[in-house]
Amino acid sequence: MRRGLSGDPRSIAMHPSFVSRPTGCEEGRFLALDLGGTNVRATLVELRGQRSLRVLEHQSFRLASTTGTVHDLFDPVAEFVVDLLADDGSQNIGFIFAFPMDQTGVRSGRLTKWTKEFAFDCVEEEDVVALLEQAIGARTGNLGGFGISALANDTVGVLAAGAYLDPRCDMGLIVGTGANLAVAVPDKMIGRRDLPGPLGNPDEMIFNMECGNFDGVDAIQTDADRRLDAESDTIGQRMEKMIAGRYLGEVVRLRVCEIAARGEGFDDWLTGGRGFNAPYTFTTEDLSDAAFDESEELIATAMQLGRLGVSDTTVGDRRLLREICISVARRSARIVAAGIAATATYLDPDLDDEHIVAADGSVFRGMPGYQAELRRGLQDILGERADRVQVCYLRDGSGLGAAVVAAVAAEV
Ligand code: BGC
Repeated sequence: MRRGLSGDPRSIAMHPSFVSRPTGCEEGRFLALDLGGTNVRATLVELRGQRSLRVLEHQSFRLASTTGTVHDLFDPVAEFVVDLLADDGSQNIGFIFAFPMDQTGVRSGRLTKWTKEFAFDCVEEEDVVALLEQAIGARTGNLGGFGISALANDTVGVLAAGAYLDPRCDMGLIVGTGANLAVAVPDKMIGRRDLPGPLGNPDEMIFNMECGNFDGVDAIQTDADRRLDAESDTIGQRMEKMIAGRYLGEVVRLRVCEIAARGEGFDDWLTGGRGFNAPYTFTTEDLSDAAFDESEELIATAMQLGRLGVSDTTVGDRRLLREICISVARRSARIVAAGIAATATYLDPDLDDEHIVAADGSVFRGMPGYQAELRRGLQDILGERADRVQVCYLRDGSGLGAAVVAAVAAEV
């Protein structure tokens, strides 16, 4: 983190957001656009000042694919935005782009590389605000008065939304399709002197850590992790691949393949065109279902496996599968706990202050037992000081945060 904040490129990039946390007094109506997975969401948010806000409307659509041309990505998004704007007339758009970006200000940022197995051509190295504005412009003749007033990563968004609601919030966490943290850093800890002051409070800036790319996990990678990484279309992101929903099911599948290849279980799971052969057939939802199957002799898992093309499984193999699922889920929560503990103690070594981590994402929200395991991880690392760090779920946090970041940028 220190090196990232000094501008010395490391596996934890520490991308500046050019905004501070909000005061909680910001007011106005904002349209938040959240692009970070196949589900593209738009939320019309009213900030009411005094740390309260209201969601006026929420809509979403699914991208047809996560690969294609630049037009396959931005044209449907632009169409979606133009329809919403026409209905509402709101012109302040906060744009969440949940990928690593090199921002040069609060209104522009170049995608440094795709993650989460996304691969749209001609977007890497480009300014994503310009691409979106061009696509909107092509639909409205000119921009029709619409423009993007702020751009932010989703972790920056969830942090900003958390801080709008509670000033103790200084970290943002996403564990969904991808995984990452953002942190509000006091000015005195920022080694880079080439950055202009942030919009909002000049004494701090929010940084998108991009810690999914942390390479310090080498020592704890298993063969399955290394194989997944080698076969992935997205370079690096080794820590994210041990945490995030895009990958956890596949880690389990690769472990099953290893055990089957050694003849130590899962006989016939991979033969005769059965389900476990193809990459990513076992999803993170399947992992969740198997890990938390309470049925007698894991019959629910047997049925689930039948759906995946693997029938006639033994109870022993199903138990082994469940054990693998539980340990992969637990490892994800424990690595996230380590990331949070490291970040909190970097900011505040003795944890003199309280820290709130605003969290969002499908794995954090939806995987049974995940939040409790994360808490146990924090307790193991921080001991009795663990209660100084609270990790709190904030529904649609990144979308709400887009509105908050747009408000900070507009200085309203
Ligand atoms: C991206 C991050 C993002 C995270 C959560 C990762 O793949 O690199 O920018 O915050 O996913 O959506």
